Amino acid sequence: MTSSEHIVKQNYQINASAREKSMKQKGIVLWFTGLSGSGKSTLADEVETHLHKNGKHTFLLDGDNLRHGLNSDLGFSDEDRKENIRRVAHIGNLMADSGLIVLSAFVSPFRTDREEARQIIGQARFVEIFVDCPLNICESRDVKGLYSKARKGLIDNFTGISSPFQEPENPMIRVETNKMDLKNCTKKIISFISQNYV
Ligand code: ADX
Repeated sequence: MTSSEHIVKQNYQINASAREKSMKQKGIVLWFTGLSGSGKSTLADEVETHLHKNGKHTFLLDGDNLRHGLNSDLGFSDEDRKENIRRVAHIGNLMADSGLIVLSAFVSPFRTDREEARQIIGQARFVEIFVDCPLNICESRDVKGLYSKARKGLIDNFTGISSPFQEPENPMIRVETNKMDLKNCTKKIISFISQNYV
């Protein structure tokens, strides 16, 4: 990696708060974390749709999609996931600086990586949302057929099977997608962010 030792940061006249003012909203990052199949993308999609319909400016970053482009050089080793999350956190940070409400849906299974994301984005605008669903339910849903492949040993380092998922200890929002339906999970998130951020 290139060292930033001899790089001096430039300051510009238009900063994050100027952009937030003209966007009439606060730039934040809603960070959805949870097992594959827990419902992160579905929920982020629903929350974004609700915000969009209410005139908010949003952008959704999704693990599967980014891994087809910017992060196509990364796999699922611990180091690659760390780099995946680091890049996403920087993108989310820039997007929040631009005044957007960013929704990021990544498994992000490691506490230290999520902590690094929080540091990059800033505590005040990093909203950790634990999409909580027991492994056996995610596995029985197996929307993409990946759990069954992982059980057969066809996928290495599969989260929940051969790689750990470290649950958030103190998430700002926790939604149990096996106990509450999509509408109510969405409601819980929207109500939290409208009281605290948007
Ligand atoms: S993360 O761990 O680095 O945050 P990310 O969210 O980008 O993961 O990608 C996870 C998605 O990749 C899953 O939803 C799943 O569809 C797919 N996937 C493929 N291989 C794996 C694996 N070994 N572990 C977890 N997810 C995998």
